[in-house]
Amino acid sequence: MAINERFEQLVREADLNSPVPEHEPERQAWFLARAKTIIEKRAQEAGRKMTFRVETFGCQMNARDSEKIIGILESAGFAEAPSEDADFLVYNTCTVRDNADQRVFGRLGRAGHLKKNHPGMKIAVCGCMVQEKSNVEKIRRSYRFVDLVFGTHNLYRFAEYMCTCIESDGMVVEIWDRADRIVEALPVARKYPFKSGVNITFGCNNFCSYCIVPYVRGRERSRTPEEIILECERLVNDGVVEIMLLGQNVNSYGKDLETSCSFAELLERVCKIEGLKRVRFMTPHPKDFSDDVIRVVRENEKIARHIHLPLQSGSDRILKRMNRRYTRDQYMALALKIREQIPDVSITTDIIVGFPGEEDCDIDDTIDVVRTVGYDNAFTFIYSKRAGTPAANMPDQVPDSEKNRMFDRVLAAVQETAHGRAEHLTGRVMEALAEEINVKDSSYITARLSNNMLVHVPGDPSMIGKMLQVRLDECRGFYFFGTVV
Ligand code: SAH
Ligand code: SF4
Ligand code: F3S
Repeated sequence: MAINERFEQLVREADLNSPVPEHEPERQAWFLARAKTIIEKRAQEAGRKMTFRVETFGCQMNARDSEKIIGILESAGFAEAPSEDADFLVYNTCTVRDNADQRVFGRLGRAGHLKKNHPGMKIAVCGCMVQEKSNVEKIRRSYRFVDLVFGTHNLYRFAEYMCTCIESDGMVVEIWDRADRIVEALPVARKYPFKSGVNITFGCNNFCSYCIVPYVRGRERSRTPEEIILECERLVNDGVVEIMLLGQNVNSYGKDLETSCSFAELLERVCKIEGLKRVRFMTPHPKDFSDDVIRVVRENEKIARHIHLPLQSGSDRILKRMNRRYTRDQYMALALKIREQIPDVSITTDIIVGFPGEEDCDIDDTIDVVRTVGYDNAFTFIYSKRAGTPAANMPDQVPDSEKNRMFDRVLAAVQETAHGRAEHLTGRVMEALAEEINVKDSSYITARLSNNMLVHVPGDPSMIGKMLQVRLDECRGFYFFGTVV
Protein backbone atom coordinates (compact mmCIF):
# COMPACT_ATOMS: atom_id res chain seq x y z
CA MET A 1 0.00 0.00 0.00
CA ALA A 2 0.86 3.68 -0.30
CA ILE A 3 4.56 4.17 -0.29
CA ASN A 4 6.14 7.49 0.27
CA GLU A 5 6.78 8.76 -3.25
CA ARG A 6 10.02 10.54 -2.48
CA PHE A 7 11.49 7.38 -1.04
CA GLU A 8 10.25 5.32 -3.95
CA GLN A 9 12.10 7.67 -6.27
CA LEU A 10 15.28 7.30 -4.20
CA VAL A 11 14.99 3.52 -4.53
CA ARG A 12 14.57 3.81 -8.32
CA GLU A 13 17.56 6.14 -8.57
CA ALA A 14 19.85 4.09 -6.31
CA ASP A 15 23.06 3.13 -8.11
CA LEU A 16 24.04 -0.32 -6.89
CA ASN A 17 27.45 -0.06 -8.56
CA SER A 18 28.45 2.93 -6.47
CA PRO A 19 29.46 2.72 -2.80
CA VAL A 20 26.77 2.60 -0.11
CA PRO A 21 25.55 6.19 0.61
CA GLU A 22 26.33 7.51 4.09
CA HIS A 23 23.29 9.75 4.47
CA GLU A 24 19.71 8.86 5.30
CA PRO A 25 17.28 8.09 3.84
CA GLU A 26 19.47 7.54 0.70
CA ARG A 27 21.32 4.76 2.47
CA GLN A 28 18.16 2.79 3.25
CA ALA A 29 16.89 3.36 -0.30
CA TRP A 30 20.12 1.85 -1.62
CA PHE A 31 19.77 -1.26 0.56
CA LEU A 32 16.12 -1.59 -0.38
CA ALA A 33 17.03 -1.48 -4.08
CA ARG A 34 19.64 -4.16 -3.49
CA ALA A 35 17.23 -6.34 -1.50
CA LYS A 36 14.71 -5.96 -4.31
CA THR A 37 17.06 -7.47 -6.90
CA ILE A 38 17.92 -10.38 -4.58
CA ILE A 39 14.31 -11.14 -3.76
CA GLU A 40 13.28 -10.94 -7.40
CA LYS A 41 15.96 -13.48 -8.29
CA ARG A 42 14.97 -15.80 -5.43
CA ALA A 43 11.33 -15.64 -6.47
CA GLN A 44 12.25 -16.56 -10.02
CA GLU A 45 14.35 -19.49 -8.84
CA ALA A 46 11.62 -20.72 -6.55
CA GLY A 47 8.83 -20.13 -9.05
CA ARG A 48 6.77 -18.34 -6.38
CA LYS A 49 6.66 -15.07 -4.48
CA MET A 50 8.89 -14.66 -1.46
CA THR A 51 6.75 -14.18 1.64
CA PHE A 52 6.90 -12.32 4.96
CA ARG A 53 5.00 -12.32 8.22
CA VAL A 54 5.17 -9.74 11.02
CA GLU A 55 3.81 -10.70 14.45
CA THR A 56 3.20 -7.71 16.69
CA PHE A 57 3.01 -7.59 20.48
CA GLY A 58 2.42 -4.60 22.75
CA CYS A 59 1.04 -1.13 22.31
CA GLN A 60 -0.01 1.20 19.50
CA MET A 61 3.59 2.40 19.08
CA ASN A 62 4.65 -1.13 18.26
CA ALA A 63 1.70 -1.57 15.91
CA ARG A 64 2.82 1.56 14.09
CA ASP A 65 6.44 0.31 13.98
CA SER A 66 5.18 -2.93 12.44
CA GLU A 67 3.51 -0.93 9.67
CA LYS A 68 6.92 0.60 8.96
CA ILE A 69 8.57 -2.83 8.87
CA ILE A 70 5.85 -4.16 6.56
CA GLY A 71 6.24 -1.07 4.35
CA ILE A 72 9.89 -1.99 3.80
CA LEU A 73 9.21 -5.70 3.26
CA GLU A 74 6.47 -5.03 0.72
CA SER A 75 8.62 -2.48 -1.11
CA ALA A 76 11.36 -5.09 -1.30
CA GLY A 77 9.00 -7.49 -3.07
CA PHE A 78 7.84 -9.78 -0.28
CA ALA A 79 4.15 -10.75 -0.18
CA GLU A 80 2.33 -11.28 3.13
CA ALA A 81 2.02 -14.93 4.20
CA PRO A 82 -1.12 -16.25 5.91
CA SER A 83 0.90 -17.83 8.74
CA GLU A 84 4.28 -17.72 10.45
CA ASP A 85 5.58 -20.25 7.92
CA ALA A 86 7.10 -17.44 5.82
CA ASP A 87 10.43 -16.69 4.15
CA PHE A 88 10.98 -13.67 6.40
CA LEU A 89 9.38 -13.81 9.82
CA VAL A 90 9.54 -10.85 12.22
CA TYR A 91 8.56 -10.74 15.90
CA ASN A 92 8.06 -7.15 17.02
CA THR A 93 8.12 -7.57 20.77
CA CYS A 94 6.88 -5.92 23.98
CA THR A 95 8.45 -6.20 27.41
CA VAL A 96 6.11 -4.12 29.57
CA ARG A 97 5.10 -7.14 31.68
CA ASP A 98 6.80 -10.48 32.18
CA ASN A 99 4.04 -12.46 30.45
CA ALA A 100 4.71 -10.43 27.29
CA ASP A 101 8.30 -11.74 27.28
CA GLN A 102 7.19 -15.30 27.96
CA ARG A 103 4.71 -15.25 25.07
CA VAL A 104 7.42 -14.17 22.64
CA PHE A 105 9.86 -16.86 23.75
CA GLY A 106 7.11 -19.47 23.40
CA ARG A 107 6.30 -18.35 19.87
CA LEU A 108 9.98 -18.13 18.98
CA GLY A 109 10.50 -21.73 20.04
CA ARG A 110 7.76 -22.85 17.66
CA ALA A 111 9.23 -20.73 14.86
CA GLY A 112 12.50 -22.63 15.29
CA HIS A 113 10.66 -25.85 14.44
CA LEU A 114 9.06 -24.26 11.37
CA LYS A 115 12.47 -23.17 10.17
CA LYS A 116 13.74 -26.75 10.13
CA ASN A 117 11.31 -27.53 7.30
CA HIS A 118 11.61 -24.22 5.50
CA PRO A 119 14.90 -23.81 3.61
CA GLY A 120 16.19 -20.23 3.54
CA MET A 121 13.74 -19.00 6.16
CA LYS A 122 14.93 -15.94 8.10
CA ILE A 123 13.72 -15.03 11.59
CA ALA A 124 14.04 -11.52 13.05
CA VAL A 125 13.30 -10.30 16.58
CA CYS A 126 12.94 -6.58 17.24
CA GLY A 127 11.13 -4.16 19.51
CA CYS A 128 11.26 -3.36 23.20
CA MET A 129 12.22 -6.80 24.50
CA VAL A 130 15.60 -6.85 22.78
CA GLN A 131 16.55 -3.44 24.20
CA GLU A 132 17.24 -5.45 27.34
CA LYS A 133 20.67 -7.07 27.27
CA SER A 134 19.58 -10.17 29.15
CA ASN A 135 17.02 -11.01 26.47
CA VAL A 136 19.57 -10.63 23.68
CA GLU A 137 21.91 -12.93 25.60
CA LYS A 138 19.12 -15.47 25.96
CA ILE A 139 18.45 -15.38 22.21
CA ARG A 140 22.16 -15.78 21.41
CA ARG A 141 22.41 -18.70 23.81
CA SER A 142 19.16 -20.61 23.41
CA TYR A 143 17.59 -19.43 20.15
CA ARG A 144 20.55 -19.65 17.82
CA PHE A 145 18.35 -20.11 14.78
CA VAL A 146 17.41 -16.40 14.96
CA ASP A 147 18.97 -14.46 12.06
CA LEU A 148 18.41 -10.83 12.97
CA VAL A 149 17.99 -8.87 16.21
CA PHE A 150 17.55 -5.09 16.17
CA GLY A 151 16.20 -2.56 18.64
CA THR A 152 13.71 0.28 18.81
CA HIS A 153 16.19 3.12 18.13
CA ASN A 154 17.54 1.79 14.85
CA LEU A 155 14.31 0.61 13.25
CA TYR A 156 14.86 3.11 10.45
CA ARG A 157 17.78 0.94 9.35
CA PHE A 158 15.62 -2.13 8.87
CA ALA A 159 16.10 -2.17 5.07
CA GLU A 160 19.85 -2.39 5.63
CA TYR A 161 19.61 -5.17 8.21
CA MET A 162 17.09 -7.13 6.17
CA CYS A 163 19.29 -6.95 3.08
CA THR A 164 22.42 -8.03 5.00
CA CYS A 165 20.46 -10.84 6.59
CA ILE A 166 19.10 -12.34 3.36
CA GLU A 167 22.56 -12.18 1.78
CA SER A 168 24.52 -13.83 4.57
CA ASP A 169 24.38 -16.54 7.19
CA GLY A 170 24.93 -16.01 10.91
CA MET A 171 23.10 -13.82 13.38
CA VAL A 172 23.01 -10.07 12.72
CA VAL A 173 22.61 -8.22 16.05
CA GLU A 174 22.43 -4.45 16.35
CA ILE A 175 20.97 -2.70 19.36
CA TRP A 176 21.54 0.96 20.17
CA ASP A 177 21.29 2.53 23.61
CA ARG A 178 19.70 5.69 22.29
CA ALA A 179 18.21 7.20 19.18
CA ASP A 180 20.52 9.33 17.07
CA ARG A 181 17.76 10.93 15.00
CA ILE A 182 14.21 10.69 13.67
CA VAL A 183 14.36 9.60 10.03
CA GLU A 184 11.35 10.70 8.04
CA ALA A 185 10.22 9.59 4.59
CA LEU A 186 10.44 5.81 4.90
CA PRO A 187 7.64 3.68 3.42
CA VAL A 188 4.76 2.57 5.64
CA ALA A 189 2.13 -0.08 4.89
CA ARG A 190 -1.08 0.65 6.76
CA LYS A 191 -3.12 -2.15 8.25
CA TYR A 192 -6.34 -0.23 7.58
CA PRO A 193 -6.67 1.96 4.47
CA PHE A 194 -9.01 4.38 6.25
CA LYS A 195 -7.32 4.94 9.61
CA SER A 196 -3.80 5.37 10.83
CA GLY A 197 -1.63 6.11 13.83
CA VAL A 198 0.81 9.00 13.59
CA ASN A 199 3.73 9.25 16.03
CA ILE A 200 4.03 12.66 17.61
CA THR A 201 6.60 11.78 20.27
CA PHE A 202 8.94 8.85 20.78
CA GLY A 203 10.18 7.66 24.17
CA CYS A 204 9.23 8.83 27.65
CA ASN A 205 10.76 11.00 30.39
CA ASN A 206 8.46 10.12 33.25
CA PHE A 207 10.14 7.12 34.83
CA CYS A 208 7.13 5.77 36.67
CA SER A 209 8.90 3.46 39.10
CA TYR A 210 7.33 0.23 37.77
CA CYS A 211 7.78 0.94 34.07
CA ILE A 212 10.39 -0.31 31.63
CA VAL A 213 9.31 1.90 28.71
CA PRO A 214 11.74 4.83 29.34
CA TYR A 215 14.62 2.32 29.37
CA VAL A 216 13.67 0.56 26.15
CA ARG A 217 12.30 3.54 24.22
CA GLY A 218 14.67 6.24 25.43
CA ARG A 219 14.13 9.92 26.21
CA GLU A 220 11.17 11.81 24.87
CA ARG A 221 11.62 13.23 21.37
CA SER A 222 8.93 15.23 19.58
CA ARG A 223 8.57 15.34 15.83
CA THR A 224 8.15 18.87 14.49
CA PRO A 225 4.55 20.03 13.92
CA GLU A 226 5.41 20.50 10.23
CA GLU A 227 6.45 16.86 9.81
CA ILE A 228 3.36 15.67 11.66
CA ILE A 229 0.95 17.83 9.65
CA LEU A 230 2.64 16.79 6.41
CA GLU A 231 2.25 13.12 7.28
CA CYS A 232 -1.40 13.63 8.27
CA GLU A 233 -2.12 15.49 5.02
CA ARG A 234 -0.50 12.75 2.97
CA LEU A 235 -2.54 10.13 4.79
CA VAL A 236 -5.78 12.04 4.20
CA ASN A 237 -4.94 12.37 0.50
CA ASP A 238 -4.47 8.64 0.51
CA GLY A 239 -7.94 7.92 1.90
CA VAL A 240 -7.46 8.10 5.67
CA VAL A 241 -10.41 9.58 7.58
CA GLU A 242 -9.29 8.86 11.17
CA ILE A 243 -5.91 9.61 12.71
CA MET A 244 -4.65 8.62 16.13
CA LEU A 245 -1.83 10.79 17.47
CA LEU A 246 0.57 8.54 19.35
CA GLY A 247 2.97 9.14 22.23
CA GLN A 248 3.67 7.75 25.70
CA ASN A 249 2.66 11.12 27.13
CA VAL A 250 1.06 13.19 24.37
CA ASN A 251 0.40 16.06 26.80
CA SER A 252 4.08 16.87 27.03
CA TYR A 253 4.38 17.11 23.25
CA GLY A 254 6.63 19.90 21.97
CA LYS A 255 8.47 20.68 25.20
CA ASP A 256 11.76 19.64 23.60
CA LEU A 257 11.24 21.58 20.36
CA GLU A 258 13.01 24.85 19.52
CA THR A 259 9.84 26.46 18.20
CA SER A 260 7.25 25.93 20.88
CA CYS A 261 4.03 24.15 19.96
CA SER A 262 1.90 22.65 22.70
CA PHE A 263 -0.20 19.51 22.33
CA ALA A 264 -3.36 21.66 22.35
CA GLU A 265 -1.99 23.74 19.47
CA LEU A 266 -0.96 20.64 17.56
CA LEU A 267 -4.45 19.16 17.99
CA GLU A 268 -6.01 22.34 16.64
CA ARG A 269 -3.72 22.30 13.62
CA VAL A 270 -4.46 18.65 12.87
CA CYS A 271 -8.21 19.29 13.10
CA LYS A 272 -7.92 21.94 10.40
CA ILE A 273 -6.91 19.35 7.79
CA GLU A 274 -9.70 19.19 5.29
CA GLY A 275 -11.08 15.74 4.61
CA LEU A 276 -9.92 14.39 7.97
CA LYS A 277 -13.01 13.34 9.87
CA ARG A 278 -11.87 12.06 13.24
CA VAL A 279 -8.86 12.58 15.50
CA ARG A 280 -7.89 10.44 18.50
CA PHE A 281 -4.89 10.54 20.80
CA MET A 282 -3.14 8.09 23.11
CA THR A 283 -1.87 8.37 25.86
CA PRO A 284 -2.36 11.56 27.86
CA HIS A 285 -0.65 11.61 31.27
CA PRO A 286 -2.96 13.08 33.93
CA LYS A 287 -0.20 15.26 35.43
CA ASP A 288 0.19 17.28 32.21
CA PHE A 289 -3.45 17.48 31.08
CA SER A 290 -4.05 21.19 30.43
CA ASP A 291 -7.32 23.10 30.36
CA ASP A 292 -6.36 24.09 26.84
CA VAL A 293 -6.50 20.46 25.71
CA ILE A 294 -9.94 20.06 27.30
CA ARG A 295 -11.11 23.21 25.53
CA VAL A 296 -9.73 22.12 22.16
CA VAL A 297 -11.43 18.73 22.47
CA ARG A 298 -14.72 20.39 23.41
CA GLU A 299 -14.57 22.90 20.56
CA ASN A 300 -13.57 20.47 17.81
CA GLU A 301 -16.17 17.93 16.88
CA LYS A 302 -13.57 16.01 14.92
CA ILE A 303 -11.82 14.99 18.13
CA ALA A 304 -13.16 11.74 19.49
CA ARG A 305 -15.25 11.79 22.66
CA HIS A 306 -12.88 9.39 24.36
CA ILE A 307 -10.15 10.11 26.87
CA HIS A 308 -7.91 7.31 28.06
CA LEU A 309 -6.70 8.61 31.41
CA PRO A 310 -4.42 6.09 33.15
CA LEU A 311 -5.01 6.07 36.90
CA GLN A 312 -2.63 3.23 37.89
CA SER A 313 -3.64 3.57 41.55
CA GLY A 314 -6.19 5.49 43.59
CA SER A 315 -4.03 5.52 46.73
CA ASP A 316 -1.85 8.58 47.38
CA ARG A 317 0.77 6.48 49.13
CA ILE A 318 1.08 4.11 46.17
CA LEU A 319 0.89 6.91 43.58
CA LYS A 320 3.85 8.55 45.29
CA ARG A 321 5.87 5.35 45.25
CA MET A 322 4.89 4.85 41.60
CA ASN A 323 6.29 8.34 40.87
CA ARG A 324 3.10 9.30 39.02
CA ARG A 325 3.26 12.91 40.25
CA TYR A 326 -0.43 13.48 40.92
CA THR A 327 -2.67 12.80 43.92
CA ARG A 328 -5.98 10.97 43.89
CA ASP A 329 -7.79 14.28 44.46
CA GLN A 330 -6.02 15.96 41.56
CA TYR A 331 -6.83 12.99 39.34
CA MET A 332 -10.50 12.91 40.34
CA ALA A 333 -10.87 16.66 39.87
CA LEU A 334 -9.42 16.32 36.37
CA ALA A 335 -11.65 13.37 35.44
CA LEU A 336 -14.75 15.15 36.69
CA LYS A 337 -13.77 18.34 34.84
CA ILE A 338 -13.41 16.33 31.63
CA ARG A 339 -16.83 14.73 32.15
CA GLU A 340 -18.40 18.10 32.86
CA GLN A 341 -16.86 20.00 29.97
CA ILE A 342 -17.00 17.39 27.22
CA PRO A 343 -20.55 16.04 26.87
CA ASP A 344 -20.87 12.33 26.00
CA VAL A 345 -17.17 11.71 26.65
CA SER A 346 -16.13 8.22 27.65
CA ILE A 347 -13.26 7.87 30.08
CA THR A 348 -11.19 4.71 30.22
CA THR A 349 -8.16 3.84 32.31
CA ASP A 350 -5.29 1.51 33.21
CA ILE A 351 -4.86 0.20 36.75
CA ILE A 352 -1.99 -1.75 38.28
CA VAL A 353 -2.66 -3.92 41.34
CA GLY A 354 -0.18 -5.60 43.63
CA PHE A 355 2.46 -2.84 43.47
CA PRO A 356 5.17 -3.27 46.15
CA GLY A 357 3.81 -2.35 49.57
CA GLU A 358 0.22 -2.31 48.41
CA GLU A 359 -2.35 -3.31 50.99
CA ASP A 360 -6.10 -3.75 51.07
CA CYS A 361 -6.63 -0.16 52.22
CA ASP A 362 -4.89 1.03 49.03
CA ILE A 363 -7.14 -1.20 46.96
CA ASP A 364 -10.12 0.35 48.78
CA ASP A 365 -8.89 3.77 47.63
CA THR A 366 -8.53 2.57 44.03
CA ILE A 367 -12.02 1.08 44.05
CA ASP A 368 -13.32 4.35 45.46
CA VAL A 369 -11.84 6.28 42.49
CA VAL A 370 -13.23 3.67 40.07
CA ARG A 371 -16.72 4.24 41.50
CA THR A 372 -16.44 8.02 41.65
CA VAL A 373 -15.16 8.44 38.09
CA GLY A 374 -17.34 5.64 36.71
CA TYR A 375 -15.06 4.42 33.95
CA ASP A 376 -16.55 3.33 30.65
CA ASN A 377 -13.85 0.69 30.46
CA ALA A 378 -10.68 -0.14 32.36
CA PHE A 379 -7.66 -2.38 31.83
CA THR A 380 -6.48 -3.90 35.07
CA PHE A 381 -2.98 -5.37 35.26
CA ILE A 382 -1.25 -7.41 37.91
CA TYR A 383 2.02 -5.69 38.84
CA SER A 384 4.92 -7.33 37.07
CA LYS A 385 8.45 -6.85 38.36
CA ARG A 386 10.70 -5.37 35.64
CA ALA A 387 14.41 -5.75 36.36
CA GLY A 388 16.19 -2.40 36.27
CA THR A 389 13.20 -0.32 37.39
CA PRO A 390 13.18 1.22 40.92
CA ALA A 391 10.07 -0.73 41.97
CA ALA A 392 11.81 -4.03 41.30
CA ASN A 393 14.19 -3.24 44.16
CA MET A 394 11.52 -2.24 46.65
CA PRO A 395 11.68 -4.69 49.55
CA ASP A 396 7.96 -5.18 50.14
CA GLN A 397 6.97 -7.14 47.00
CA VAL A 398 3.46 -8.54 47.26
CA PRO A 399 3.09 -12.37 47.06
CA ASP A 400 1.30 -13.69 43.94
CA SER A 401 -1.68 -15.04 45.88
CA GLU A 402 -2.27 -11.60 47.42
CA LYS A 403 -1.89 -9.91 44.04
CA ASN A 404 -4.48 -12.23 42.52
CA ARG A 405 -6.91 -11.59 45.33
CA MET A 406 -6.49 -7.81 44.99
CA PHE A 407 -6.87 -8.09 41.22
CA ASP A 408 -10.21 -9.89 41.59
CA ARG A 409 -11.48 -7.14 43.89
CA VAL A 410 -10.58 -4.34 41.48
CA LEU A 411 -11.86 -6.26 38.45
CA ALA A 412 -15.25 -6.80 40.09
CA ALA A 413 -15.55 -3.07 40.84
CA VAL A 414 -14.51 -2.12 37.32
CA GLN A 415 -17.00 -4.50 35.74
CA GLU A 416 -19.77 -3.35 38.00
CA THR A 417 -19.31 0.34 37.18
CA ALA A 418 -18.50 -0.03 33.48
CA HIS A 419 -21.45 -2.29 32.84
CA GLY A 420 -24.36 -0.30 31.58
CA ARG A 421 -22.40 2.96 31.34
CA ALA A 422 -23.37 3.03 27.66
CA GLU A 423 -27.05 2.43 28.37
CA HIS A 424 -27.95 6.14 28.39
CA LEU A 425 -26.96 6.43 24.71
CA THR A 426 -29.59 3.89 23.57
CA GLY A 427 -31.92 5.39 20.96
CA ARG A 428 -29.47 8.16 19.98
CA VAL A 429 -28.24 8.67 16.40
CA MET A 430 -24.47 8.97 16.30
CA GLU A 431 -21.62 8.95 13.84
CA ALA A 432 -19.70 5.67 13.53
CA LEU A 433 -16.75 4.68 11.36
CA ALA A 434 -17.36 1.32 9.64
CA GLU A 435 -14.22 -0.72 10.31
CA GLU A 436 -14.71 -4.35 9.39
CA ILE A 437 -17.05 -7.22 8.64
CA ASN A 438 -18.50 -8.58 11.89
CA VAL A 439 -16.49 -11.63 12.94
CA LYS A 440 -19.53 -13.64 13.98
CA ASP A 441 -22.04 -12.69 11.27
CA SER A 442 -20.84 -11.47 7.88
CA SER A 443 -24.13 -9.73 7.14
CA TYR A 444 -23.16 -7.21 9.84
CA ILE A 445 -20.51 -4.48 9.82
CA THR A 446 -18.69 -3.41 12.97
CA ALA A 447 -18.34 0.34 13.36
CA ARG A 448 -16.67 2.50 16.01
CA LEU A 449 -18.39 5.39 17.72
CA SER A 450 -16.55 8.56 18.59
CA ASN A 451 -16.50 7.39 22.23
CA ASN A 452 -14.60 4.25 21.11
CA MET A 453 -17.52 1.86 21.66
CA LEU A 454 -18.48 -0.57 18.94
CA VAL A 455 -21.83 -0.81 17.17
CA HIS A 456 -22.85 -3.68 14.90
CA VAL A 457 -25.14 -2.77 12.00
CA PRO A 458 -26.63 -4.79 9.12
CA GLY A 459 -24.52 -3.90 6.09
CA ASP A 460 -22.00 -4.95 3.48
CA PRO A 461 -18.24 -4.56 2.89
CA SER A 462 -18.74 -1.53 0.60
CA MET A 463 -19.47 0.49 3.78
CA ILE A 464 -16.02 -0.13 5.29
CA GLY A 465 -14.03 3.07 5.77
CA LYS A 466 -17.14 5.26 5.62
CA MET A 467 -18.57 7.43 8.37
CA LEU A 468 -22.15 6.27 9.01
CA GLN A 469 -25.07 7.81 10.86
CA VAL A 470 -26.20 5.01 13.13
CA ARG A 471 -29.15 4.69 15.49
CA LEU A 472 -28.13 2.83 18.64
CA ASP A 473 -31.03 0.41 19.01
CA GLU A 474 -29.87 -1.94 21.72
CA CYS A 475 -27.13 -1.73 24.35
CA ARG A 476 -25.33 -4.96 25.25
CA GLY A 477 -23.17 -3.58 28.06
CA PHE A 478 -19.97 -2.66 26.24
CA TYR A 479 -21.35 -2.49 22.68
CA PHE A 480 -24.48 -1.80 20.66
CA PHE A 481 -26.63 -3.22 17.91
CA GLY A 482 -27.85 -0.48 15.60
CA THR A 483 -29.13 0.49 12.18
CA VAL A 484 -27.86 2.93 9.59
CA VAL A 485 -30.28 5.85 9.21
N1 SAH B 1 2.47 5.78 28.77
C1 SAH B 1 1.32 5.14 29.19
C2 SAH B 1 1.47 3.68 29.50
C3 SAH B 1 2.25 2.75 28.68
S1 SAH B 1 2.39 1.10 29.31
C4 SAH B 1 0.85 5.78 30.49
O1 SAH B 1 1.57 6.41 31.19
O2 SAH B 1 -0.29 5.55 30.80
C5 SAH B 1 0.68 0.60 29.34
C6 SAH B 1 0.19 0.17 30.68
O3 SAH B 1 0.88 -0.97 31.12
C7 SAH B 1 0.37 1.17 31.79
O4 SAH B 1 -0.62 2.14 31.80
C8 SAH B 1 0.36 0.32 33.02
O5 SAH B 1 -0.95 0.22 33.55
C9 SAH B 1 0.81 -1.03 32.52
N2 SAH B 1 2.13 -1.37 33.06
C10 SAH B 1 3.30 -0.74 32.82
N3 SAH B 1 4.30 -1.32 33.51
C11 SAH B 1 3.75 -2.34 34.22
C12 SAH B 1 4.25 -3.31 35.13
N4 SAH B 1 5.54 -3.35 35.48
N5 SAH B 1 3.39 -4.22 35.64
C13 SAH B 1 2.09 -4.20 35.31
N6 SAH B 1 1.56 -3.30 34.47
C14 SAH B 1 2.37 -2.37 33.92
FE1 SF4 C 1 5.72 4.20 31.52
FE2 SF4 C 1 4.99 6.20 33.04
FE3 SF4 C 1 6.18 6.68 30.71
FE4 SF4 C 1 3.71 5.72 30.76
S1 SF4 C 1 4.36 7.72 31.52
S2 SF4 C 1 5.40 5.00 29.49
S3 SF4 C 1 3.75 4.39 32.53
S4 SF4 C 1 7.11 5.70 32.50
FE1 F3S D 1 5.37 -2.76 25.18
FE2 F3S D 1 7.25 -1.28 24.18
FE3 F3S D 1 4.77 -0.52 23.95
S1 F3S D 1 7.35 -2.34 26.09
S2 F3S D 1 3.80 -1.37 25.75
S3 F3S D 1 5.64 -2.32 23.05
S4 F3S D 1 6.53 0.81 24.20
